[in-house]
Amino acid sequence: MNEKVVILTGAGISAESGLRTFRDQNGLWEDHSIEEVATYDAFIKNPELVHRFYNARRAQLISDEVSPNPAHAAIQRLFEALGPDRFFLVTQNVDDLHDRVGTPCVHMHGELLKGRCEACNSVFDLHDPLSTESVCFKCKEKGLLRPHIVWFGEIPFNMELIYSQLSESDLFISIGTSGLVYPAAQFVREAKNVGGARCIEFNTENTPISIEFDESIEGPAGETLPGWVDHFLKQRGLL
Ligand code: OAD
Repeated sequence: MNEKVVILTGAGISAESGLRTFRDQNGLWEDHSIEEVATYDAFIKNPELVHRFYNARRAQLISDEVSPNPAHAAIQRLFEALGPDRFFLVTQNVDDLHDRVGTPCVHMHGELLKGRCEACNSVFDLHDPLSTESVCFKCKEKGLLRPHIVWFGEIPFNMELIYSQLSESDLFISIGTSGLVYPAAQFVREAKNVGGARCIEFNTENTPISIEFDESIEGPAGETLPGWVDHFLKQRGLL
């Protein structure tokens, strides 16, 4: 069997690593509205607040509190068994937890550990806090550095590649995403209608798009995914 597996992950896969999701109870959007911190207008209006929000997220991500969980490890095992031609991972997450376990992934909403200059478009690694005083290492402009994050109203990265992978998928797996943010929420439709894929959702609860999946597996991904991956690999003689 040479089936191609395409995986989409969202904030739920990192919840068991200690990172808050956006829309669950106690989610990030309970403390801040999207309009306050996750749009370009917000950045222009109140860059200090936007920097503070992402600086805090970044500091937590690189702290000892946060590390990959068994769901990230399970996806890595799937990648190692299938190889790069039969595996594609796209994440909405701006954390680096897939990267830390070695899984190649497309960060469609950007990366918290990168910054970008609005003046010259340079993208750079970022661990320190950003401020309105920060200076671009390349063009030396001050105050125009921003998190390398896709804000609402901006176009996600790598869409062409993602849609071409979806169109080739035989199995589409969505893990820990609320299905409320487009275009990611329509990937299941694309995988099903264009790729002809079987579609499986892993989530702790039903989502508005659960109905579009062939199967929904309920529970925390760190508990449900490892066993599912083992079973999948065993069935194919890959474990
Ligand atoms: P959300 O916070 O909207 O949804 C998280 C989903 O994960 C919910 O459906 C939960 O039920 C589920 N969940 C929580 N814990 C889980 C666990 N342990 N195992 C499995 N599922 C679990 O996060 P996203 O769907 O990722 O965009 O949000 C999409 C985008 O909206 C984000 O990338 C971000 C946000 O605004 C930007 O910032 C551009």
